Amino acid sequence: MDTLGKTITCLAAIAWKTNSSLSLEEVQVEPPKAGEVRIKMISTGICGSDDHAIKGIIPLKYPFIPGHEGAGIVESIGEGVSSVKPGDKVLTLIVPQCRECSACLNPKGNFCEKQDILPSSGLMLDGTSRFTCKGEKIYHSFRTSTFSEYTVVPEISVVKIDAAAPMDKICVISCEVPTGYGAAVHSAKVTPGSTCVVFGLGGIGSAIVMGCKASGASRIIGVDINEEKFPRARALGVTDCLNPSNLKKPVQEAVKEMTGIGVDFAFEAIGLAETMVAAWDSCHVSHGVCIIIGVSPPNSKFSLSAQTVSTGRTLKGVCLGDYKTKDCFPQLVTAYLQNKINIDPLITHQLPFDQLHKAFELYHAGKTIRCVLLF
Ligand code: APR
Ligand code: ZN
Repeated sequence: MDTLGKTITCLAAIAWKTNSSLSLEEVQVEPPKAGEVRIKMISTGICGSDDHAIKGIIPLKYPFIPGHEGAGIVESIGEGVSSVKPGDKVLTLIVPQCRECSACLNPKGNFCEKQDILPSSGLMLDGTSRFTCKGEKIYHSFRTSTFSEYTVVPEISVVKIDAAAPMDKICVISCEVPTGYGAAVHSAKVTPGSTCVVFGLGGIGSAIVMGCKASGASRIIGVDINEEKFPRARALGVTDCLNPSNLKKPVQEAVKEMTGIGVDFAFEAIGLAETMVAAWDSCHVSHGVCIIIGVSPPNSKFSLSAQTVSTGRTLKGVCLGDYKTKDCFPQLVTAYLQNKINIDPLITHQLPFDQLHKAFELYHAGKTIRCVLLF
């Protein structure tokens, strides 16, 4: 079928209003404009951030097509696009890399000014949408909208990967792997023999555990209210599991007792102010590093005992492992193909895209680490 330059009608999931269940609809996907790329999706993961978006915890414009952790094949490109061509295998980038803004030009960090997460316009860079459904304009999410058989993204939000990449699972390198594994190995630079605590043992937390283990941590404490997450976490490298609801004391006190004084590295991968404070308080008073990964609701605030700050601890927020996305994600794919990172244990379920509702049921029941939807 020759789709070049034509509007494509295909299946997509739409969030019509806050906290409603997604509906599978026939949508129209316009051709890419200048500087844009249209992608035929092959796989997409269900990430906590998509759930946050659907619930309104990350505020987006409705109605929108969710999804950001995606792998696909370029169907067509708009004028001026040079970094990808039709037929290329690609990953979508929730945080783009424009290479021009203050964030991209700084060697540290990666939160490109052209991102569309906080805040979100739901539109392409020119202020318009490429999606319609039943004649109504549909908004994009994070300029990725991967819960659709076809999507259009800016060129800065897509990157070409190795043609040997297995497309049924490589999508997790578009978010879960850099966010979790990268936070441990690239942002925190976990050291051999160190002690770590990971708050939240979902998809991101599991990838953090893998990164801590790969870095040679001697003790990895995993914290989750869902004990069903414990066996898999242990298999990935967690040495001690804590369920805060079963403790008679605050979880940070338990962590301090277990380690004598506090951990070298603490990670928060839930998105709650209270667990962020618990992560901070779990850290070694002198050199402890507290890494916040979870995305919390707007207006949510936390306060720290001011005296705990000046002793030397570090508090750092991390998005996608501080990797410059377009530069680094292809390298992570190559590292996987060379057996240097193993992403396979992070994917617990694979379902056809039209079984999206079942996938979300499994996610909400806490049964999945990552469920990947296949188109
Ligand atoms: N205390 C401990 N664990 C909790 C708590 C709590 N109060 N509340 C939830 N959890 C656990 C859940 O049981 C689950 O195992 O946190 C885990 C969250 O995992 P997922 O829902 O799989 O989410 P994930 O994709 O890992 O994302 C986690 O990182 O990137 C961000 O936006 C994302 O904020 C989200 C976070
Ligand atoms: Zn930028």
